[in-house]
Amino acid sequence: MTDHLDGAALITGATAGLGAVFARRLAAEGRDLVLVARDLERLQASAADLRERYPVAVDILSADLATDAGRRAVADRLADDTSPIDTLVNNAGFGLYASFGSVPLADEERLLDVNVRAVLVLTHAAVTAMTHRGRGEIINVASVAGFLPRGRAATYAAGKAWVISFSEGLSLRLAGTGVRICAICPGFVHTEFHQRANADMSDTPAWMWLDPDLVVADGLADARAGKPVSIPSRRYRAVLGLVRVLPRGLVRRAMARR
Ligand SMILES: NC(=O)c1ccc[n+]([C@@H]2O[C@H](COP(=O)([O-])OP(=O)(O)OC[C@H]3O[C@@H](n4cnc5c(N)ncnc54)[C@H](OP(=O)(O)O)[C@@H]3O)[C@@H](O)[C@H]2O)c1
Repeated sequence: MTDHLDGAALITGATAGLGAVFARRLAAEGRDLVLVARDLERLQASAADLRERYPVAVDILSADLATDAGRRAVADRLADDTSPIDTLVNNAGFGLYASFGSVPLADEERLLDVNVRAVLVLTHAAVTAMTHRGRGEIINVASVAGFLPRGRAATYAAGKAWVISFSEGLSLRLAGTGVRICAICPGFVHTEFHQRANADMSDTPAWMWLDPDLVVADGLADARAGKPVSIPSRRYRAVLGLVRVLPRGLVRRAMARR
């Protein structure tokens, strides 16, 4: 397994929340970056800020991962061997907090396009290029939601369950290739995520909120220790440990309005 990667890191959803933290952290490690998101002005501002703080090269790629063209543009960059990407962070994603049937089917499909299809397409491109070079790492940002039945976010939770299962399964295929993969599964994190989803989080207790820097630090440490699945923070590992032993009917009742 490669422990020291020095090629560039490509991060989707790099202009806000967890993606911006991944970008800062990888830049601090001296890694050149490729930042991906839709908003071009925000990409340019993020890149300028990172170049000012760290002695690294920062490229930007404006792409909508809900579209075939957007996913293809990012996959082409991952396949480009002239300036190899050693780290792919599949981080871009969004949530829909509404009971199924109350939003158009197109919104649910767009969620799967970004949260699942883009992860599939970009991981495929990265695995092909990285296994050829014999080095690389793929970080897929999933969620604790992927372990839970979510009454108000069923498609989101199912998409994240796919990301966890896919990453864990693929880690078996990648054993011995020099390429590692890890699904990072955060609990609630203060980012733009809930605001974008119009979610009222006022009844969420303070202890359930995680610091984004801690999530990224824990997740990267687990990925680099070769773990295929990372659950940042002791408190969420305890919560999921409890979920595994509680009767499933009780868990479903607790999650009915979540
Ligand atoms: N925050 C939480 O509580 C939480 C918990 C568990 C898991 N997660 C997961 O963590 C990941 C990051 O979420 P976050 O909380 O950091 O969200 P965030 O603050 O809302 O940031 C989302 C980022 O993704 C980009 N993005 C959104 N849609 C995109 C699209 N169609 N194509 C390309 N880029 C897109 C956004 O930029 P543009 O709008 O410019 O495209 C932005 O850079 C997601 O996968 C999310 O599911 C979050």
